[in-house]
Parts: sequence; C-alpha cells; structure tokens
Amino acid sequence: MTNPGQSENSAALIVRENEAIFQTYRRLPIAVGHADRCYIYDVEGRRYLDFLSGIAVNALGHGHPRIISAVNMQTNRFMHLSNFFYQEPQIRLAELLKKASGYERVFFSNSGAESFEGSVKLARLWGAAHGKTDMLAFTGGFHGRTYGSLSLMDKPLYKNGMGPFLPNMGVIPFNDTVALRAAVTERVCGVALEFLQGEGGIIPASTEFVETLKALRKEHGFLIIADEVQAGIGRTGTFFGFEQFDIRPDIVTTAKGLGGGLPLGAILTDDTVASLLQRGMHGTTYGGNAVACAAGAVVVDEVTNSLMENVGKLGLYLRERLLEKAAEFPQLIKEIRGQGFMQGIALNSEMPDFVELMLKRGVVSNITAGSVIRILPPLIAGKEEIDEFIVALRDVLTEKDKAA
Ligand SMILES: Cc1ncc(COP(=O)(O)O)c(C=O)c1O
Repeated sequence: MTNPGQSENSAALIVRENEAIFQTYRRLPIAVGHADRCYIYDVEGRRYLDFLSGIAVNALGHGHPRIISAVNMQTNRFMHLSNFFYQEPQIRLAELLKKASGYERVFFSNSGAESFEGSVKLARLWGAAHGKTDMLAFTGGFHGRTYGSLSLMDKPLYKNGMGPFLPNMGVIPFNDTVALRAAVTERVCGVALEFLQGEGGIIPASTEFVETLKALRKEHGFLIIADEVQAGIGRTGTFFGFEQFDIRPDIVTTAKGLGGGLPLGAILTDDTVASLLQRGMHGTTYGGNAVACAAGAVVVDEVTNSLMENVGKLGLYLRERLLEKAAEFPQLIKEIRGQGFMQGIALNSEMPDFVELMLKRGVVSNITAGSVIRILPPLIAGKEEIDEFIVALRDVLTEKDKAA
C-alpha cells in the first residue's frame, strides 16, 4: 500500500508544503520516502546517511525492529487512555528510568519544552517554600520554545517581539565562574543548564564551572536543573550528560531520544522535589502516552544494555577521526568539542553551504550556532557509518580549502 503523496516526486511535495504549512522551518531539500537504520531515502530512492538523527531523537536509528514490535503490540492493546488510568507501559518505563538514573520519581510529558516548563514550576514551588523566587540560566542554552524556556534563554531570534517574558529570570554567561558567583543570591531558587550545550554550539561545561555551581548550591540553597533533552539517554556515553561530572542535579529533564521517534519527555527527581506537585497541580493529556512509553522502554533497555558501551568506544573513534581532520585542515577548523555521539567541529568562519555540500555526497549533517558542524549519529552507528561520514567531510573540506 502506498501512502497518499508517496508516488509524487520531491519537487511536487515541496511545492505543496510551501503552500500549506507555516514557513517557520528551513528544510533540507529532501522529501522522504522511507528510512532504515542509519539511512534516509528520498521519494526518488536516493540514500542519505543520517548523522542528525532527527536532532538526537532517533537514538536507535530508523525502523528498529524492537521498537516497531513494541509499538505494534501496544497499538493493538490500547493507544491512549488519559492519565485517569494505571498503565503498565508508563510504569515499566518509569522503573527503567529510575534504575538507569538513580532518581526516585518520574513525570512524563510530550516534549523537551514541556519537561523544562515542569521543572521551572518545581523550582518556583520549592522557592515559594524557601522564600526564593529567582531563576538563572546561561547564554547559549536552549530549553524550548515555550515562555518559561524562552525566559531562560538569550538568543534574540527566538525571542524578538514576543515579550514580555517571565519576571525574575536571568541569563548569565556560560562557563563564567565570576559571573555565576555574582549572580547567585539568597533569592535564587533554581539554576538551569545543559552540561553539554547542543544548539549553543556543542559546548561542554568546564569542571571548574560545575564545581563552583555545586559549592554555591551548598552555600545558598537552590535546585540545579539539568536539561538533558539533547545530551541525555546515552548520547554522551553515560546515561545522562551530567554524569561526565561529579554532580547530582536536583531535577533532570529529558525528551528527544527517550521516545525513539515518538513524542515523549520526562522529568526525574527524588521524592522530596516530586512531592511539591500534589494531585491536580500539574498534568498533561498525552504525557506518558502508552505507545510512546512502550517505545521508550525499548530505548532505555537497549541504551543501558549495549548502546552506551558502543557510544563510549565509537565516540572515541569518531573523535580521533575528527581530530585528524582538524590537524589536516587547521585553516578551516578551530576546535573539536563534545562527548560520545554528540560532537562539534567549530569552524574558523561560517560555511553556509556545508550542509548542501554534504547532502550532495549523500550525508545529512547540521550546522548550529552559525559555524559549528553538529554531529549526532544514531547510537547504533558503527565504524562503517562513521568512516562514510568522515570521507564525505574530508571531501567537502578539501573542496572548501581549494576554493579559499
Ligand atoms: C537541550 C534542549 N532542551 C530543550 C529542547 C526543547 O525540546 P522540544 O523541541 O522537544 O520542545 C531542546 C530541543 O532542541 C534541547 O536541545
């Protein structure tokens, strides 16, 4: 059976999109027919290596047989009931997340922004109980497109003309311990950060910064919110990105990879913080959807049982290959940054046609923060796929180098 529109070519589908959908996205010129493991195929059958993974969503690649089987089984049982009912897939996934993370409770949402909003509410509730109202986050951070998230972000493109934003929210320079010390007062109830910034340009927190944050929490008392929406679920080689440091945040938000391709997010905390939200105070219609949770349980099982190890080993392999390229093209590459399967190539200057040039070589890639090539392979990627990416990368960099 073909889907409606499946027989149309890319050009026809692009015209239809242009006329029917809000023009908010800069799309790649690919109309997708199907996708399998690490590859996307357009409607004409051209194959692309997917090193973006739906922006860190397709942790297990496309069409993973265990996800398909779990989703099919759950769809046949029931798809949606509402949170008026006890649902085994939710409970199973919550237990797996508790085991993988060591946190005591889970709240399910549908997305990263929604998880972050819930964490803002938790921090404010905790603050209300301790006479504190203020929240802090960092330049370059990305937490979603909702008002709570945007109020703790600084990029003008996402905010211009949309104010006013929430009061008592501050955005201070990332990795700047002096600014952090100056900003933390007795009024601060929550500090939110990505321990490895994604959209901001694959920028890891420095150990000194994390240690300062920890010391300030001890001194002043506030909740640390780890936004693990992009870096979490095994992507950095540990279950959460913050585990690369010696710290235990009070609230963890996750989404993206968790649903393995279905919309699913979660907030993780210990009992004390979770109990701030009493019955009826917070909720969502779809959050914890049974089909999404069935997929999520497969993701967490695969990630904890084998993929984290794969990312640990092959993340180093990827990094070594990238460092070789940095040594080969010092005039183009400033720095290689990142952990595991979340790597960035910081370029010396913008390369606006990089993504297009990679597509011509059959590879889907991404540029973030203007001049950082962001590499987010599916966690199932092997040496072969990494090598394929590196060959295309070298080819594009050679072309650019010659043209310079
Ligand atoms: C670190 C981080 N937090 C939150 C979000 C928002 O997630 P969503 O788009 O699912 O709302 C993103 C999305 O890119 C993200 O990278």
